[in-house]
Amino acid sequence: MHVEWRRRDNRQIHLYSRYVMALATVTTVLLAAMALYNLLTPRVSSSHPAPSSSLHLSPAESCSDSCRIVLVESIPEGLEFNSSTTHPSIFQSWLSLMAEARSSLNIASFYWTLTNQDTGTHEPTAYQGETILTKLAELSGTLSVRIAVNTPQDSQPQRDLTLLNHSGADIRTVNMRQLTSGVLHTKFWVVDKKHVYIGSANMDWRSLTQVKELAAVVYNCSSLAADLGKIFEAYWFLGESQSIPSPWPASFSTFYNKDTPLQLLLNNTPSSVYLSSSPPSVCAAGRTPDLQSILSVIEDAQSFIYIAVMNYLPTMEFSHPKRYWADIDTQLRRAAYEKKVEVRLLISCWNSTPPVMFSFLKSLASVYDPKHNLDIQVRLFVVPASPKQKEIPFARVNHNKYMVTDKIAYIGTSNWSGDYFANTAGSALVVNQTASQSLEPTVQSQLKAVFERDWSSDYSTPLTQLTNLKDVC
Ligand SMILES: *[C@@H]1O[C@H](CO)[C@@H](O)[C@H](O)[C@H]1NC(C)=O
Ligand SMILES: *[C@@H]1O[C@H](CO)[C@@H](O)[C@H](O)[C@H]1NC(C)=O
Ligand SMILES: *[C@@H]1O[C@H](CO)[C@@H](O)[C@H](O)[C@H]1NC(C)=O
Ligand SMILES: *[C@@H]1O[C@H](CO)[C@@H](O)[C@H](O)[C@H]1NC(C)=O
Ligand SMILES: *[C@@H]1O[C@H](CO)[C@@H](O)[C@H](O)[C@H]1NC(C)=O
Repeated sequence: MHVEWRRRDNRQIHLYSRYVMALATVTTVLLAAMALYNLLTPRVSSSHPAPSSSLHLSPAESCSDSCRIVLVESIPEGLEFNSSTTHPSIFQSWLSLMAEARSSLNIASFYWTLTNQDTGTHEPTAYQGETILTKLAELSGTLSVRIAVNTPQDSQPQRDLTLLNHSGADIRTVNMRQLTSGVLHTKFWVVDKKHVYIGSANMDWRSLTQVKELAAVVYNCSSLAADLGKIFEAYWFLGESQSIPSPWPASFSTFYNKDTPLQLLLNNTPSSVYLSSSPPSVCAAGRTPDLQSILSVIEDAQSFIYIAVMNYLPTMEFSHPKRYWADIDTQLRRAAYEKKVEVRLLISCWNSTPPVMFSFLKSLASVYDPKHNLDIQVRLFVVPASPKQKEIPFARVNHNKYMVTDKIAYIGTSNWSGDYFANTAGSALVVNQTASQSLEPTVQSQLKAVFERDWSSDYSTPLTQLTNLKDVC
């Protein structure tokens, strides 16, 4: 009896312990899920409702995606850095996005010149662009490919778009000139409502091999893709309606902005993320205008602000009569003066640079006095060109459009002058991983390394009051 009981007991203990283990596993998973939920859910409890915003929007369910973000770059042929900082190429990222695509591919674009024929060149380095066009044409026959593009001028090549259309892509031209006196300057992809690409590269073979570009790809991120999809749908709508709705229908609204960002895991790191957009007239309810996002990122910085943009001008570049526009300029000087923030601007110099830009940059760079903790510095980045490379039109330039502070990574598509924020359609990805305890490098630390690599390279020259531009670029 005793033995029998023991035996039965043993079996029961065995069963019981399996049951306990299973229960423990379930409990662990539940607890982990609850912890994750707490981590990811904005602190809004139902008994203490958050003060409702003027838009009556509140963040919906947090994104449960575990997204993977990768910085990608185009480094012009022949450029070499003394640095271990490297990232996959934009060419590779476009190939991998097309390889992932199963159902849909939406592209917002400025213009299309992916082939030698488009640019009247005979360059072996057009191969990457030509490959992208061929693959896009193949995909256009098998899944939904939609392209929103700025209405091309008659002088602009349209061969790529015609090819894609004949291959089955849906194309809408957006007449931003008529709508806002600007252009559709945005460059992003949304794949399968799940992966996104956003950054400085145009749909141009030169953007893959002859122009320096920076972008981000985010894989497996349906919440972010859904939000970028809303910006795409706005362009798509404009392509059809040829007028801007005011207000925008509710389907274009977003919950996610600088005040209530999307909470998600990026490379296993808890992150606050949002997408900003310009001009304000194409922002539906809830969307942070691109200028507001830049100003708030600058304001939020405590120790440094590194900016890499092709053009920087405190003017409305394209307006007649001329207009001064110092929103960003003032914010930078304020940060340097009031908070002693270190400000670095890495600006491009090439034969299409408007000369007036240097007068304004010298003015900014004059806010430098170590004795009084004033520290704004400007460097000019020049992409060298061989005689043969010089023949490629509109190439050999740093086309980056990003900013990194001690807290935030901002990856955009706009030149930094007034027109781009007032009239021109652009968008940006803003990533805040300040709260991160993770060991994985943050996007901010990776972007900072890119900036430091470029800033300290031989391709950069300090801009001082004495700089003679003819000696530099
Ligand atoms: C695309 O092709 C169709 C016919 O195949 C044509 O009706 C349409 O106008 C074309 N659209 C564009 C934007 O080229
Ligand atoms: C997306 O997630 C799935 C499932 O975790 C994974 O198999 C796949 O490799 C991921 N895709 C990319 C492009 O990272
Ligand atoms: C970044 O996130 C931190 C905490 O998560 C927050 O305090 C800070 O305001 C955020 N910064 C910006 C610019 O959104
Ligand atoms: C940025 O500014 C440059 C110089 O004004 C201009 O050539 C370029 O078109 C702008 N960016 C784009 C791609 O529009
Ligand atoms: C890399 O370092 C070498 C040796 O110091 C120098 O000659 C070269 O110009 C550097 N290149 C860049 C891009 O900084």
